[in-house]
Amino acid sequence: MGSSASKLLIGVNLKMYMNREQTLSWLDAAVTELQNIKDNNIELFLLPSPPLISECLERTSGSLFAIGAQNISEYDSGAFTGEISPQLLTQMGCEYALVGHHERRALFGENDDVISQKIAASSRNNLIPIVCIGELSTEEKEAQTEVRIQITTALEEQKHLKKLVIAYEPTWAIGAEQPASSEHINRMCSLIRTELEELKIKNFQIIYGGSAGEGLFEMISQTCDGLFLGRRSHDPQTFISIVQECISIKAANQ
Ligand code: PGA
Repeated sequence: MGSSASKLLIGVNLKMYMNREQTLSWLDAAVTELQNIKDNNIELFLLPSPPLISECLERTSGSLFAIGAQNISEYDSGAFTGEISPQLLTQMGCEYALVGHHERRALFGENDDVISQKIAASSRNNLIPIVCIGELSTEEKEAQTEVRIQITTALEEQKHLKKLVIAYEPTWAIGAEQPASSEHINRMCSLIRTELEELKIKNFQIIYGGSAGEGLFEMISQTCDGLFLGRRSHDPQTFISIVQECISIKAANQ
């Protein structure tokens, strides 16, 4: 199982949920609590709303948190009004870029071609791409086909991938009452692992997102390297208890 070799990875996508004060007080509370965690087998990233990236970078300096962008342009620089330059993000100190979230596909018209170009732009600028992969279908066979196609179109042309994160998020589990079933997550994450190995991609982690929260990681830790959190992490205390829970499960698996 590749998952025991990789570090535990927990990411938080704040979307546009929190205002400035809420974001910074969430971050201050989380950073304070994280000082008590002495584990060098964990990586954490936070994806704040773009206008707050700079302040979040300042407040997380020296902490376990890396900062990333929820979206990037496929272009490094130039006449692209309103776009987020991956080059500038790297210069600021960001380490991750989320690419192809379902909301970008469904609400902002991103297609496989743009997503593939954005993955290339992340790697070219030394940002680790967090590539969202997830089916629309609730039927198992169709879901597998959708996920295979998404992986191949997103990744087969990538020449300069040094490191990759796959956020597996079935679209119907995003913003839902419950995450996908652990059986489904385990089957799909195993399939994703096989696909990545077939593409000869070596340095990757797979995390699960879509209503992820407390109590889930225990059931999927054999196939996933961590969690991609949304609403269930909005209370900083809950976020810390999810982190502690994942650390103990990962340690027990080793
Ligand atoms: P959710 O969001 O956990 O609030 O469903 C997950 C995501 O969209 O990344």
